[in-house]
Amino acid sequence: MIQVIENKFLLTGKEYQYAFYVEDGKLYHAYYGANLGVYYESCGKEGYKVELPKEYSEFGRGDFRPTAIVVRTNESLSTDFRFDSYKILDKKPSIGLPSMRGEKQTLAVVLKDLRLNLKLTLFYTPYEDGLVRSVLLENNGKEAVVLDKISSGCFEFSRGEYETIDLCGRSNAERQYSREKLGNGVKKLASSRGITSHQTNCFMALLKSGAEEETGEVYGFNLIYSGNFNIECEKDAYSRVRVIVGENILYGGIELQAGEKYYTPEVVSVYSIDGIGGMSRNFHRLYRKYLINPVFADKIRPIVINSWESVVYNVGEETLFEFIDGAKGLGIDMVVLDDGWFGERDDEDRSLGDWYVHKTKLPNGLKPVIDRCHASGMKFGIWFEPEAISPNSDLYRQHPDWAIHTNGCEGVQMRNQFVLDFSNANVVDYVYECMKNILENNAIDYVKWDMNRSLTDVPNAKKYRDYTLGVYALYNRLTASFPNVLIEGCSTGGARFDGGILYYSPMIWTSDNTDAWCRAKIQYSTSLCYPLQSLSNHVSDVPNRQTKRSIDFETRANVAKFGCLGYELHIANEKEENRELVKRQTAEYKKDADLILTGDLYRLRNPYIDGAFSELVVSEDKTRAILVYVRESSVLYAQKEKKLLLKGLDENQKYLVQETGEIFTGKALHYIGLEIVLERMDYSSTTLHLTKV
Ligand code: DGJ
Repeated sequence: MIQVIENKFLLTGKEYQYAFYVEDGKLYHAYYGANLGVYYESCGKEGYKVELPKEYSEFGRGDFRPTAIVVRTNESLSTDFRFDSYKILDKKPSIGLPSMRGEKQTLAVVLKDLRLNLKLTLFYTPYEDGLVRSVLLENNGKEAVVLDKISSGCFEFSRGEYETIDLCGRSNAERQYSREKLGNGVKKLASSRGITSHQTNCFMALLKSGAEEETGEVYGFNLIYSGNFNIECEKDAYSRVRVIVGENILYGGIELQAGEKYYTPEVVSVYSIDGIGGMSRNFHRLYRKYLINPVFADKIRPIVINSWESVVYNVGEETLFEFIDGAKGLGIDMVVLDDGWFGERDDEDRSLGDWYVHKTKLPNGLKPVIDRCHASGMKFGIWFEPEAISPNSDLYRQHPDWAIHTNGCEGVQMRNQFVLDFSNANVVDYVYECMKNILENNAIDYVKWDMNRSLTDVPNAKKYRDYTLGVYALYNRLTASFPNVLIEGCSTGGARFDGGILYYSPMIWTSDNTDAWCRAKIQYSTSLCYPLQSLSNHVSDVPNRQTKRSIDFETRANVAKFGCLGYELHIANEKEENRELVKRQTAEYKKDADLILTGDLYRLRNPYIDGAFSELVVSEDKTRAILVYVRESSVLYAQKEKKLLLKGLDENQKYLVQETGEIFTGKALHYIGLEIVLERMDYSSTTLHLTKV
C-alpha cells in the first residue's frame, strides 16, 4: 500500500512499513521496520540537517557516510537533488533489466538537480512480502555527465547494535554462511569480476542484535543483477547504520550523454520480525510468485541425469547410448549432454564458440541420441557456454576481435578461454543463431547455460554493464523463441547465482561440489535468500570428485532432494543395489517434490554451527511437512539425537510421522520436539514425512 500524507510517504507491506518525508526540498528517511499501522519517525532528527538520515544520499554536500550517487562533470563532483514531484503509477516501469513481475502500484518520486539539469526518479514498489526499489537518472542537460556511482537503494537504520550475514565463498564452496557483529566503519561486499562470482553474493542480511533463526528483527537485501555489484554497510560513530545496494560501476565511470537515461537494477529488501527464517520465507514467496519465470515457477522440475562428472568429454554416440540405456526405467526424466559434444572439443582447451556437432564423436548428429532418449521415455537436454570463446576455435580464427580485449594487450586466459564481447550485438546475434539452429533442428527440452570465468581486459566501465545487458538480450531472445525450454543457469558451479539469472533460469546449478556434506552447507546458506526450487542438486558417485569422501548413497539423495533432484553418475556402471535406490528415490521425490518446491522452509540445524543439517518444509495449508536431518559425526550422540523442535506446524493439529507411526500435536513437536534416530555412522541421515490426521 502506498500512502502520501502531505510531505510524508508511507509504504506498507504485510509485515513492514517504510517511511520518508520532504523537508526544505530535501528527502529524509523516517522509518523502516515492523508494520505499525501509522506513520512514524524513528531515525531521529538530532544533529545538523546535513547529517540527518537521507533517503538517497549524495556526495559532497555534508553527508560523509556511504553515498548512493556520484555524478561527475569537468567542474564538479557533487549534486543537489531536490524534491520536485511524485506520482503513483499503476504498474512498475519497465527498466530494461530482469525485474520483479506483476502489475504493482509504484511510487515514483522525482528529484531534480537544477544546476546540472538532471532528473532522478526513485521508484518504490511495496509488495506484500518486501519492498522493491530502483532509480532512473535522466540527463536533461546539454552536456554529458559521468556516472561514478548510482545505487538502487539507500537504507537507513536507527542507532543500535547490529549483526550481518553474508554469503562469501569460493569455487566448490559457494555462499558460505558467515555471521558477524557489525563493527565500526564500512563492510563492503562487491564483485568486479563481471559476474556475481563465487567470492561474494549480492545478498546481505542485517540483524538487530539478538535476532535468531526464528526470532528477532532481520532485514535482507538482494540485487536483481548478474554483473558487478556493490553492497556497503556502515556503522558510524553514533552507531547509525546505512546500507547502500547497487551496481558496482568501475574506474572511469559511465558517460551519460545529453538526453540519455540510466536505469539501475532493482534491489529487493525484506523485513521480518520472525528472524532469519522469516526473512528467507519472505524472499522465497516473492521470488516464487514474482521473479521466477511463470512457465516453470512452482512446477515440478524434471529429474535429470547429467553426463559431466561420469564421462566428462567422452561423449561419443556409443557412450551416450550406454548412458541412456543405463538411465532407462529408473524414473529419470531427462538426459543432459554436458560439455564435449561440439566443434573438436576433446579437451578444455578448444572449440568454445563452434556450436556445431562434433563430427567424430557424433558422426550421425544428435538425432540418434535424442531418439534413443525418447524411446527410453526420457527427454533430452544439452550444454552450452554461450559467452565463451576458445583461442583454438574456428570462431576465434574468424573473429579474434569478438573476444573482450584491450587493444595492444595480450588477453588473460582462464580455463584456456576468453569471454565473448556480449556488448556487441553482432556477437549476441551469432550465438543466438547457433543456439537456435541446434534447438530448432533437434527435439531439445532443456539447456544448461554455463559460464566458466570472470571478465578481464575490459577496456572501460560501461562495457561491464553492456556485457550484462547482452547476456540478458540473449536470454530474452531464447526464452521468447523457445518458451518451453527450461534453461538451467550454471557458472563453474554457482558463480552466478542471482536474481537476474533466476528471472530466466528457474533453477541454477548450486555448486560443482557434490559431496553431500559440503553441499548441505551450500544449500543451507543459499536458501537464506533463494527458494529451494531454484537449487539444482545432483547425486554423484563416490569417492566424491571434489573431496574424495564417500558418503552413503541415501544421504546423498536426502540432501539433493531438498531442491531440484538430479543425478550425475555413470549410471550404467552402478551396482544393481544403487540402481534400485535410484528408482526408489525418484519415485519418492515425485511424491514429495510439490511440497519441497512450494512449501515454507524452516531451517532447524545449521551445519556451519551445529554439526548437523536439518530443514523442515511445511505446506502452505500446514497439512503436510517433510523433514531432512543429516549428522556430520556419529561420535557425540551415537544413535539418538537431541530432540528436534519443529517450527512452522499448526500447533492445534495432530500430525502422523509416517515412518514411525507416532502421532503428536503440532504444539508438542514445537515445544518437546521429535526424536531423531539415526544409523551409527558419520553422515547418516533421515527423511521423515508428517501428515495432519
Ligand atoms: C562447469 C560446470 O559447473 C560443470 O557442471 C560442467 O558443466 C563443466 N563446467 C563443463 O565444462
